[in-house]
Amino acid sequence: MSYNNLLVNHENHITTVTINRPDKLNALNMAVIDELGQCFTELSNNIDIRCIILTGAGEKAFVAGADISEFASFSIEEGKNLAAQGQQKLFDLVENLTTPIIAAINGFALGGGLELAMSCHVRVASENAKMGLPEVSLGVIPGYGGTQRLPRLIGKGRAMELIATAQMLKADKAADYGLVNHVVSQEELMGKCMSIASKICANSPTAIGFAIQAVNSGFNSLNGFKTEIDLFGNAFGTNDFNEGTTAFLEKRKPNFKGG
Ligand code: COA
Repeated sequence: MSYNNLLVNHENHITTVTINRPDKLNALNMAVIDELGQCFTELSNNIDIRCIILTGAGEKAFVAGADISEFASFSIEEGKNLAAQGQQKLFDLVENLTTPIIAAINGFALGGGLELAMSCHVRVASENAKMGLPEVSLGVIPGYGGTQRLPRLIGKGRAMELIATAQMLKADKAADYGLVNHVVSQEELMGKCMSIASKICANSPTAIGFAIQAVNSGFNSLNGFKTEIDLFGNAFGTNDFNEGTTAFLEKRKPNFKGG
């Protein structure tokens, strides 16, 4: 199958999927989310594919977030649908895929971009990568599982600070926190991911699939994800959301008044 927004490259048992919207820093619009969901489903049904590497086109970004221009005028209901559909079609699908996915974080991984990387099974970052959940700077909250997966990976206290300050973590700090497993130079990034993927390919794909299911079953807390969807949607009814997204699109700083 061919895709409008993805590049897909097979090498032995390893497939590299590259999100290809570099002029928009690979922001996740609905088309990209749909295509990624379809692509991963197709790859997981192919017994020849033992490992997937996911990265972003260009040298600047893995994914700079959900596409703000697409949801800036959404209602509360549309906001809830956006989060619920995205979680189901892509983020939960990735986490539960029995073919392991390595996120090769080659630059900015913000908002939905970090949420996507956190859904993957392994994360490797290049030295220039910057990661964060800046949603509250737009008057919204993470809606693709970020409020659940970030505390699981780095602990509640660090996650609360990162979410509330909307700050970005540099790659070395992200490794300190356990958010990424390795940091390498940009030139070495794909090689490092390939080397991990090759080691994965030497093992039983069936057993790896079982192990992924077993690890995930220990973290099942559907209520947290449901609460995130509801509150993400509620944010779309606020003046702050209107101000935050308008300010981003007008390339100015927001002036939040609350409410
Ligand atoms: N949604 C939509 N478009 C986005 C985007 C996003 N999340 N992130 C970047 N873009 C677009 C920009 O609007 C710009 O498009 P334009 O050239 O048509 O104006 C293009 O990608 C390049 O981004 P730009 O902001 O010019 O690059 P920069 O190097 O100055 O800044 C970032 C890089 C990542 C700091 C900045 O793009 C940013 O803050 N992005 C939004 C991050 C975010 O809040 N993500 C969470 C969304 S919920």
